[in-house]
Amino acid sequence: MKLLNIYKVIFIFIAITANFIGAQQDVLQLEKGWKFVQGDNPQYSLPSYDDSKWKNILVDREWEVQGYQDYDGYAWYRIKIIIPSSLKNNTFLKDSLEIFLGKIDDCDQSFINGKILGINGKNAAIDKQADDSFKTARYYYNRNRRYTLSVNDPRILWDKENLIAVRVYDQGGKGGIYSGDLTIGMVKLVEYISSNHDHCVFNFDKGNASKTFSLKNNSNSLTLKGKLLIQVQNKLTKKIYFEEKKDANLAPLSSQMFSYSFKNRNEPVYVNYILEFDNTKERAIIVDEVPYVLTPVPSLKPKINGAKVYGQRPGKPFLYSIAATGEDPMIFEAANLPDGLKIDRKTGIISGSVLNKGEYSIKLEAKNKYGAAKSDFKIVIGEMLALTPPMGWNSWNCWGLSVDQEKVIASAKVFKQKGLMKHGWTSINIDDGWEITGRSQDPKRDADGKILCNSKFPNMKTLGDSIHALGLKFGIYSSPGELTCGGYTASYQHELQDAQSYASWGVDYLKYDWCSYETHAKDRSIPELQKPYIVMNEALHKIDRDIVYSLCQYGNGNVWEWGASVGGNLWRTTGDITDTWSSLSTIGFNQTVNAKYAKPGNWNDPDMLVVGWVGWGPSLHPSRLTPDEQYTHISLWSLLSAPLLIGCDLTRLDDFTLNLLTNDEVLALDQDPLGKQAVQKIVKDNIQVWVKELQDGNKAIGIFNLDKEPQKYTLNFSDIDINAKIKIRDLWRQKDIGTFSGKYETTVPSHGVILLKVFTK
Ligand code: GAL
Repeated sequence: MKLLNIYKVIFIFIAITANFIGAQQDVLQLEKGWKFVQGDNPQYSLPSYDDSKWKNILVDREWEVQGYQDYDGYAWYRIKIIIPSSLKNNTFLKDSLEIFLGKIDDCDQSFINGKILGINGKNAAIDKQADDSFKTARYYYNRNRRYTLSVNDPRILWDKENLIAVRVYDQGGKGGIYSGDLTIGMVKLVEYISSNHDHCVFNFDKGNASKTFSLKNNSNSLTLKGKLLIQVQNKLTKKIYFEEKKDANLAPLSSQMFSYSFKNRNEPVYVNYILEFDNTKERAIIVDEVPYVLTPVPSLKPKINGAKVYGQRPGKPFLYSIAATGEDPMIFEAANLPDGLKIDRKTGIISGSVLNKGEYSIKLEAKNKYGAAKSDFKIVIGEMLALTPPMGWNSWNCWGLSVDQEKVIASAKVFKQKGLMKHGWTSINIDDGWEITGRSQDPKRDADGKILCNSKFPNMKTLGDSIHALGLKFGIYSSPGELTCGGYTASYQHELQDAQSYASWGVDYLKYDWCSYETHAKDRSIPELQKPYIVMNEALHKIDRDIVYSLCQYGNGNVWEWGASVGGNLWRTTGDITDTWSSLSTIGFNQTVNAKYAKPGNWNDPDMLVVGWVGWGPSLHPSRLTPDEQYTHISLWSLLSAPLLIGCDLTRLDDFTLNLLTNDEVLALDQDPLGKQAVQKIVKDNIQVWVKELQDGNKAIGIFNLDKEPQKYTLNFSDIDINAKIKIRDLWRQKDIGTFSGKYETTVPSHGVILLKVFTK
């Protein structure tokens, strides 16, 4: 097995507190009994207010799926509950009460008995007055609201009815209290423990995997003593093959370091950290997962990867880099190039411009000292761009608004140095944060109205040139209102000028958001939703450059039904993704109704990838997705023909993430020239089977396990319209599995996938 040095940790953090003393009676469920109303009124926080006419609502799903489709703005939730003082009796710590309201999309101000309890996940002081500042916070929709109150806090009415009221403000996408499992209970010992295992990397050396991490005691008065059991467990068989027990002794506010090492088997394994406190026998359980690599190392011999078809408009600047694995140096050839194009034989960059419309069949060749590879390639000079889904990097999921020119250049260099370009990764896109912020006193545009860049981007043209010189494409971001979602200057009433600026900087890709256009749209009708995109599309057609047009309005008005008609090459189908299983699975497994609208030139965009070090800037963390969840992410997005935009800090790209992003057989599904999005064929308990038709007449199949436990599954071929004997290939391992008739049996890891290609032709 290859030795790995993986500078990252993949983990799931489940702090399960199993209180052995009176396990259930010490927690009140807040799951049922909530009342709901749209709108806003300070009276709603008061216990005396009569909410008997309000509707019932569930708190484990957003209000959109409960009859309030597309509702943005204020809404209130209320629940009445008796808090018995007996709650205190069965717990070791008797000092604080915890009110857990789960996750709220986007912002909240929560009240108990008319007084503010917390704001956007942070406790509020007793004298805090309600105001509107809470609603300016963005990206808090995925944060747990865990509010604590001292047991003596006069806001709590012990043994009496308490009113909990939540004032929610949603500013786009889905809204409301949505993650479920809401509770009231006493704060427990385990809540004082935090771990940094999720920021500590596994090291792989001499066949062993090892890790050093620390636990911290966040209490300033309690000493926490106990035993830490470290257990390595196969995810599929549940067999434990390594165990080590260590003493934990944590003085107030201190940390303790723990190290362990075990024989690595490169298979899905959990590492369970079980901390049992001496005095209460309470347990904190944290589950970590060890990255495992599936993609085989590419051969030294040349192999041509990447898009097999490429579109450009007549007379517009043309740029295509041949993607080929194999040892460098390589020499590239492209036979039958149309007039106007030339190839740089050393880099494989094809550039120029073609005047005549038409389809040109090219033979690409890559040679090195180990041999040569040939591949057919089609250039289509016509009206269509993005004939296969765009593949690149975008700054948002890592750097957020803290992006700067150096970070962008560094990413472009990694595309080259780490060989991502050899697998077809081609675009480097700046998201929000390059313009002048709306808050600044400085001019946002020059005297002629031309947009200005902020000091982090001193020269966009030079930046564009340096990205192109590497053979890569250059992308940028804006919004149709006055301000972008991050509060920076946007394109309202300057669309043509902005498009001209982009063209002069060499921009090849525009992500165009929706933010701050709400105030201009008369209503949410389809023509109003379309209007800003039509305006920018017309501007993009007036410039002397092709710009791939990416609409980012979160799927409003079923954008997939009309995105192509307003010139979109791709359109976001959902709100923003984040690096959790709940976000990934909710988005990924709901791409069903839009499937038939995906085709060459027009793609559904379920948002950017959340693998590697992400964080929305400036501080980053390793993706909170487990290794299996990351395999699911890349497999599902490839089956869906989704645009693939890496969202991590590429300078911290570890071997696992690199391996995940460079499996040519998996990426080939995404780039398949037929451009058919996979469809959900089977949903059985927690197994889902998605099938994608491929250009060569064969099919790709993803068998996904959404369950917390591994699942045995038998795929009956008749359920996916296959009657013949078929050859099956495992795409991640790039290995033929055998020939099967009637059915195929497998075991799928929890939150994982088996990704197959079946050869029916
Ligand atoms: C959001 C968009 C994100 C990112 C952000 C920038 O609306 O969905 O992907 O572009 O705006 O502020």
